[in-house]
Amino acid sequence: ANPSLLILAGDGIGPEVMAEVKKIIGWMGAKRGVTFDVTEDLVGGCAYDKHGVPLHDDTMAKAQEVDAVLLGAVGGPQYDTLDFSVKPERGLLRLRKEMDLFSNLRPAQCFDALADFSSLKKDVVAGLDIVIVRELTSGVYFGEPRGIFVEGNERVGINTQRYTESEIARVARSAFELARKRANKVCSMEKANVMESGILWRDVVQEIHDKEYPDVQLSHMYADNGAMQLVRWPKQFDVIVTDNLFGDVLSDCAAMLTGSLGMLPSASLGAPMANGRPKALYEPVHGSAPDIAGTGKANPIACILSFAMALRYSFDMGEDATRIEKAVEQVLADGLRTADLMGPQDGTPISTTQMGDAIVAALDAS
Ligand code: NAI
Ligand code: MG
Repeated sequence: ANPSLLILAGDGIGPEVMAEVKKIIGWMGAKRGVTFDVTEDLVGGCAYDKHGVPLHDDTMAKAQEVDAVLLGAVGGPQYDTLDFSVKPERGLLRLRKEMDLFSNLRPAQCFDALADFSSLKKDVVAGLDIVIVRELTSGVYFGEPRGIFVEGNERVGINTQRYTESEIARVARSAFELARKRANKVCSMEKANVMESGILWRDVVQEIHDKEYPDVQLSHMYADNGAMQLVRWPKQFDVIVTDNLFGDVLSDCAAMLTGSLGMLPSASLGAPMANGRPKALYEPVHGSAPDIAGTGKANPIACILSFAMALRYSFDMGEDATRIEKAVEQVLADGLRTADLMGPQDGTPISTTQMGDAIVAALDAS
């Protein structure tokens, strides 16, 4: 059977950047003989407009069946006053929850042509290619007890960091599997010096490593040191695995090593399906960018790189993924820039569609 893909373009610039991905899917069919069974459906505000809910049950069921879901972005000011239960982001949250996507992959990849764009020195970031694996469904954002309580004559705010062994084990496995497709190196980050959950985290990651992934190089680091090392010399890492809270902070930090929001892809993975591949949702890190929607200014690269991640991690088409990344590198090296990748003095930006066309042309030439 053909690989199956559910495309949920969503709102704002979502459909604009997704249109450029579809050009690449077309190119894969025409030039590489790879045909995807593509279904398109609604998520977010556009789904609310049609169905009164931000994710229809049929769409949810479809998402559970396909090999991978590719999402654009959801939301917009016209939905800000909606009831919380039907807000656009609830569509995305429902997908993550019901697919049980516990492993969030956030790559920080620096294309040489954009190294000047980083807030760090060029030699620190040029050629950088790391992935942070963040546990996404447990930890201090979900642990009980939580709440604001009265204790004596003052209030106390409580959250609980809670991890079970199995929750740690499954995200550790996902990081080791990922490392095997990359430089085979994992660094696990916690604060085992001051947190019980950190001690358990370190133990379980080590156990899973020793039993199931002894071929992968594993190290452990306290997360505060990890933050320093990420900024000091990020190229020492390949895959970093960490909990929900540390992962939230560290992945935003790593993202800015490489420049614009318009460049950042992500993947969220769940348990293996019958075919052995994980349930998977791929999406750019950015939102629906209502301030530029409809103007042709959106950078499609984050969404295109998200599709490349789908090829690598859901379809075992790593070669094609690399080809797409090389094509992106090429157009950037040629000096082509959407508006988000340049300063006011840097010349004329190209449009969303021009960027997509240029990447397809670079693929053709590759
Ligand atoms: P945003 O990511 O949509 O935009 C932040 C800034 O970055 C804006 O100035 C925007 O123009 C720019 N930007 C974002 N993506 C870009 C791209 N591909 N090319 C060029 N410039 C880009 O975040 P914001 O403004 O906080 O939220 C806007 C809407 O998106 C809200 O409704 C929010 O709830 C939603 N949102 C949705 C997300 C999702 O679907 N996963 C994630 C974040 C926000
Ligand atoms: Mg964050």
